[in-house]
Amino acid sequence: MSLLDNVINEISQERLWSRHLQLAEIGATPAGGVNRQALSREEITARQLLVQWSSPLGLIPYSDAIGNLFLRYPGKHAEAEPVLTGSHIDTQPTGGRFDGSFGVLAGLEIVEAMHGAQFKPERSIEVVAWTNEEGSRFAPGMMGSALFRGQRDLESMLKVEDLAGISVRESVEAVRAAEPNVASRSIGFPVAAYVEAHIEQGPILEMQQKIIGVVSGIQGKRVFRVTVQGEENHAGTSPRALRKDALVTSVDMLSALHIAMHDAEDIVKFTVGFLEISPNAPSVVPSSVHFSIDLRHPDSATLNALGDAIPGLCEQHRGPCTLQVKELSNDPSLEFPSVVRDVIRDVAVELDIDHMDLPSAAGHDARHLHYVCPTGMIFVPCAGGISHNEAESCKAEDLFNGARVLAGTIARLADRV
Ligand code: GLV
Ligand code: MN
Ligand code: MN
Repeated sequence: MSLLDNVINEISQERLWSRHLQLAEIGATPAGGVNRQALSREEITARQLLVQWSSPLGLIPYSDAIGNLFLRYPGKHAEAEPVLTGSHIDTQPTGGRFDGSFGVLAGLEIVEAMHGAQFKPERSIEVVAWTNEEGSRFAPGMMGSALFRGQRDLESMLKVEDLAGISVRESVEAVRAAEPNVASRSIGFPVAAYVEAHIEQGPILEMQQKIIGVVSGIQGKRVFRVTVQGEENHAGTSPRALRKDALVTSVDMLSALHIAMHDAEDIVKFTVGFLEISPNAPSVVPSSVHFSIDLRHPDSATLNALGDAIPGLCEQHRGPCTLQVKELSNDPSLEFPSVVRDVIRDVAVELDIDHMDLPSAAGHDARHLHYVCPTGMIFVPCAGGISHNEAESCKAEDLFNGARVLAGTIARLADRV
């Protein structure tokens, strides 16, 4: 048996599954999902659990100025760029137990297996939990990986506030104060390769009865925040002609946007998932509305054209109100390099696991690592393709097989200098 077989044989389906269930208890919702917001008290507890699991393996924990958490499994050459694997442990407010968590726990599982098999790769391996992938408490999302890549400016991200007015800066300080034994390091460093394991969050693998998705790339995404400012007034006395009703204007705007973004082939994805109305009182004409736009398309030119049309469409429908349209992120479609995809596919073939190539319709931190180092992703199925939903569900065996393919892939990438 080869050393690699020894590592893969050490992967434990039971340990991996039970850790998913334990992690899901932190921020558990009554409906069986998870609400673990970025940089929250719950995330601090979850991070402590990760560090606790990693310490018997001798992993060295680090975090940076945005709170990205790294757990380092030292290789033979401490000075060589490490290979990274991981994902995120923050969730949507009504999130599931596997989105993000699987990539981090699979990363931990594979280094646990390497430790068990006494396999010390040439390069160090680091398991990473990126800060604020979801962008639900603090927008934009993928803050940790975007900063790691150098795409954003730290000071402007630290100023972002949640709906309660709490800043990223105060929240990162609270996280880091709770982790006195986690060493500091600066944001961004050279990386040899990054591989992220994730649930597919779509129906294709399940429909095709495949266990592993070799991810070919990620579709482009643009995110906007729109603020419509009207004027508060009395619901009984103010004449229609004098009203500046921010909700009526927003409804008009949303309807025009939905018509403009409609695509009979269903390739354009246009979502308004957040809408806040103020003062949100039954007898007051709404004075302001704040809503999100999430726009995705696999073709970057189409994404650009559609996204560029949004401010003008909003302007045309602003009625008596004033308007602010702010673009929070604009990421084109990308294709992962074959050097990583080929390794993932070869490992799946060697382990005799049914696999297929497929693109990612969801966004991931791998999007940003793609610009740092050779990057790839491994998908496993989730029931009915349902995700960003408390009912999100996966089979323990699929997670296990995903971790086996990840182990083979990372071991191979880390054993080269
Ligand atoms: C990631 O969570 C996404 O929204 O694609
Ligand atoms: Mn995710
Ligand atoms: Mn998600």
